[in-house]
Amino acid sequence: MKTSLLHLHAPDHWVNDPNGFLYYRGQYHLFYQYFPYAAAWGTMHWGHAVSRDLVHWQHQVLALFPTIREDQNGCFSGSAVEQNGEMVLFYTGVRYLTPNPRNIHVSLDGKMESNQLTIRSADGFSFDNWQGKQVAVPAIANPEMGDFSDTRDPKVWRGKHGWYLMLGSTVRREGRVLLYQSRDLKHWEYRSQAGLDASYGWMWECPNYVSTSGGEVLLVSAMGFCPNGETPDSVVACFPVRFREESCTMEISKRYQLLDYGRDLYAPQTTLDEQGRPVLIAWVRMPKPVEEGWIGMFSAPRLVEVRKGRICFPLHPNVRQACSSPISHPNQAHPAGYRARFSLEEGEWVNLGGFEIACREGRICTDRTAVYPKDTPGPYCCQTPALDRWEVEVLAEEHLVEVFVNDGEYTISNAVYGLGREWKGNLAGPVSFYTLQQE
Ligand code: FRU
Repeated sequence: MKTSLLHLHAPDHWVNDPNGFLYYRGQYHLFYQYFPYAAAWGTMHWGHAVSRDLVHWQHQVLALFPTIREDQNGCFSGSAVEQNGEMVLFYTGVRYLTPNPRNIHVSLDGKMESNQLTIRSADGFSFDNWQGKQVAVPAIANPEMGDFSDTRDPKVWRGKHGWYLMLGSTVRREGRVLLYQSRDLKHWEYRSQAGLDASYGWMWECPNYVSTSGGEVLLVSAMGFCPNGETPDSVVACFPVRFREESCTMEISKRYQLLDYGRDLYAPQTTLDEQGRPVLIAWVRMPKPVEEGWIGMFSAPRLVEVRKGRICFPLHPNVRQACSSPISHPNQAHPAGYRARFSLEEGEWVNLGGFEIACREGRICTDRTAVYPKDTPGPYCCQTPALDRWEVEVLAEEHLVEVFVNDGEYTISNAVYGLGREWKGNLAGPVSFYTLQQE
């Protein structure tokens, strides 16, 4: 089986959203949207990888593939929980209303029947795709409740009063989450919905609720929500929320934050790590395949913390610890990448292999122009809001640079193509580099 270190890349061809992220029987399982035939989006399967430490990943055989009428055009995104020792997956099965006769992997009009399906596994590795699939929540019939076609990506979690399931949807072109409750994880009752007006997006995909010691957060991948009119027109927004278990209702505050200021991360998913801390992994959108032919990868795992009301995403300590052998130059680093630490003052900059990180007008600004394809919409340059301190930690590899500012208070994550191993800078203080511990 193929392995991946630090970052999980597509094993080949195409990947998008992380799915079914779960710490189960001593291992992290990460499933993902996978098109196994070409480096393009198409009929979705669930690929699968496992890790003991969130650093070393091992690819597994395909977990889910279309077999029944309800998922004949794809096994879309979803999540995983454990019940009585079994792994239980929830996902959206889609059936196109008008398949494209020239390309059966896409539809002509984007319209589909979307059912929420479930499948169990006794060990987290084998899934009975032929006999094991069941409908958990049937396609929505009432447009006031949600959309028949655009309702998807079940996120399931356990509460004090049973199990909860949340779907992303749209009503009158406004983003919605639909909330369901179950006692046994099999029979689901629709309880309520929550959302905001159309200026926050016309449809919310991949909803993810996370409760932290500092507060509760709803993450949604909002389509058509474009805070500053920038491309792309879909973005991950994080809202402070209050979820009431008894009534199964969610209050959403409009005081949103962006997940990341690099605009490449999408469809994040969280689970609890070995120590019970919320940990997040997101899809890194890429404009074109890398030279070896694959497209799509996943961010490094980050913790989700709410500090004094601010939602922060620091690098997961396992990654930091694995990447803590000091080196004097990035060209001494393991091929899988390196970590760098430095602090900037106004006007200072560091260039890591063609990727520039600068402090200007109080902001951390990045520029990937030198290591990004020219014929793509970008963005090439990104920035945080103005800050009052600029402690920077970077995780860098050939295809991805992740910049964590002030321990995850702000992050900028950018896909790159062929990051170099040289570096330069005009800063007064030191730059410390670290590579993976020797095995
Ligand atoms: C988000 C998304 C999900 C859907 C999946 C299909 O990127 O559109 O809403 O389940 O991708 O691949």
